[in-house]
Amino acid sequence: MAAKNKAGGLAGVTAGATRICTVGKEGAGLTYYGYDIYDLTDNACFEEVAYLLVRGKLPNRAELDAYIAGLKTKRGLPEALKTLLEMVPADAYPMDVLRTAVSFLGNIEPEGDFSNQIAVADRLLACLPSMLLYWHRFHSDGTRIDAETDDDSVAGHFLHMLHGKPPSETHRGSLDTTLVLYAEHEFNASTFAARVITGTLSDMHSAVSGAIGALRGPLHGGANEAAMVLIQEFQSPEAAAAGVRDMLARKDKIMGFGHRVYTTSDPRNSVNKKMSKMLGDDAGDTRLFAVSEAIEKVMWDEKKLFANADFFAATVYHFMDIPTYLFTPIFVCSRITGWTAHIMEQRADNKLIRPAADYIGPPLQEWVAIDDRP
Ligand code: COA
Repeated sequence: MAAKNKAGGLAGVTAGATRICTVGKEGAGLTYYGYDIYDLTDNACFEEVAYLLVRGKLPNRAELDAYIAGLKTKRGLPEALKTLLEMVPADAYPMDVLRTAVSFLGNIEPEGDFSNQIAVADRLLACLPSMLLYWHRFHSDGTRIDAETDDDSVAGHFLHMLHGKPPSETHRGSLDTTLVLYAEHEFNASTFAARVITGTLSDMHSAVSGAIGALRGPLHGGANEAAMVLIQEFQSPEAAAAGVRDMLARKDKIMGFGHRVYTTSDPRNSVNKKMSKMLGDDAGDTRLFAVSEAIEKVMWDEKKLFANADFFAATVYHFMDIPTYLFTPIFVCSRITGWTAHIMEQRADNKLIRPAADYIGPPLQEWVAIDDRP
C-alpha cells in the first residue's frame, strides 16, 4: 500500500533554492539576505528591510530617502477601488477584504509584462494599509479617510489612518519592529503558494491574492488573532494555567505555539515579548502580559512547545488599540515584501512547480454505463 502522508505537509522536504532568507539554519538563525534578524530589529526601519528584500541590498541614505518618498506617492486608492471597498460588507473578514482588493487592483492596474515588477511590488506595499483602513474606517465610523497621510513610515501611516491621528513614537516604533519581524520567512505556506502561482508565469496580483488566502488560516497568519482571543479569556495567570492545561488534555491546539521549522524557540519571540511587557506597563495593564507568560510556561512545561512570532505579537497590537481582527492583515502589510521578493526570485529562474503524488485511490475499475449504476 502507498505510504500515507509520506512527506506529511512536505515537512523537511527541500522544495527549491533561495537567496533571500534562512530560517533556523545552523550557525545563522533567521537572516534576510544574510543580515541577522536582531541586527535588523535593533538598527533598521521597516522600509530599509523592505528595500533589502525587494531590491536585494541595503539602501544607502539617499536611496532610502528616495524609496520612502516614492512609497508615499503610491498610497492613494483609485476611485473604483474605494467604491469596491465601500460595497464589501461591514462584517466581512478583513483578510478577505485584502484578498479581494488586491485581486481588483490587478484588474484596474494590471501588471502587464514583468518589466515593471518592482514598481508593482512597491505599489502593493504602499497601498495595502490604505485599502485595509479605508474599508475599516468607512464601515466602522462612516469616515472616508484620506489614504495619503504625510507619515514617512508604513507603521506611522497605518496607525494614523486607524486612529485618525499620528501615533506616539513608542507605538509607531513598536509596530515598525513587528513589521520587520514578519517581513520574510523563507518557504512558509503563503510564500510557497505565491511561488507556485508565479511558477505558472501568472501575474503578481494573482500570486499575492493566493498568498493572502494561504496566510488567512489559523495554522499560519491567523494564529495571532486566535492567540489574542485565548489570552483575553483569562482573568489571572492561575486561571490561564488551569485553562490551558484543560485544553491540552482535550488535545486542543493552542494558537501561537509550535513551528514547523524551529524546534526549541522562535527567535522573533523574545523581541515581541519584550515589547509586549513594555507596552502593557505603559498602558497600565499587567493582566494580559502575566496571563501570556503563564500560558507560555504551561506550554513549555507540558509539551515543550514554545511561543512563536504570533503569540506576543497579539498583545503588542492589542496595547496599541488595534482591533483583533486587523492583526493578520498587518502581517500582510509586512509579508508583502517577502512575497514579492520571492515572486521575483522565482521568475528569475523559473520552473513550473508541479510535484508528484503517491496514488492511494482504488485500482483500475471497469466502466459502468450511467443507467446500469446502482
Ligand atoms: N498546541 C498544542 N499542540 C501542538 C501545537 C500547539 N500549538 N503545535 C503542535 N502541537 C502538537 C501536535 O498536536 C502534535 O502532537 P501529536 O504528535 O501528539 O499529534 C505535535 O505537536 C506535532 O504538531 P503538528 O501540528 O503535526 O506539527 P506541524 O509541524 O505540522 O505544525 C504548526 C506546525 C505551526 C502548524 C503547529 O505547531 C500549530 O498548529 N501551531 C499552532 C498554530 C500557529 O501558531 N501557527 C503559526 C505558526 S508561525
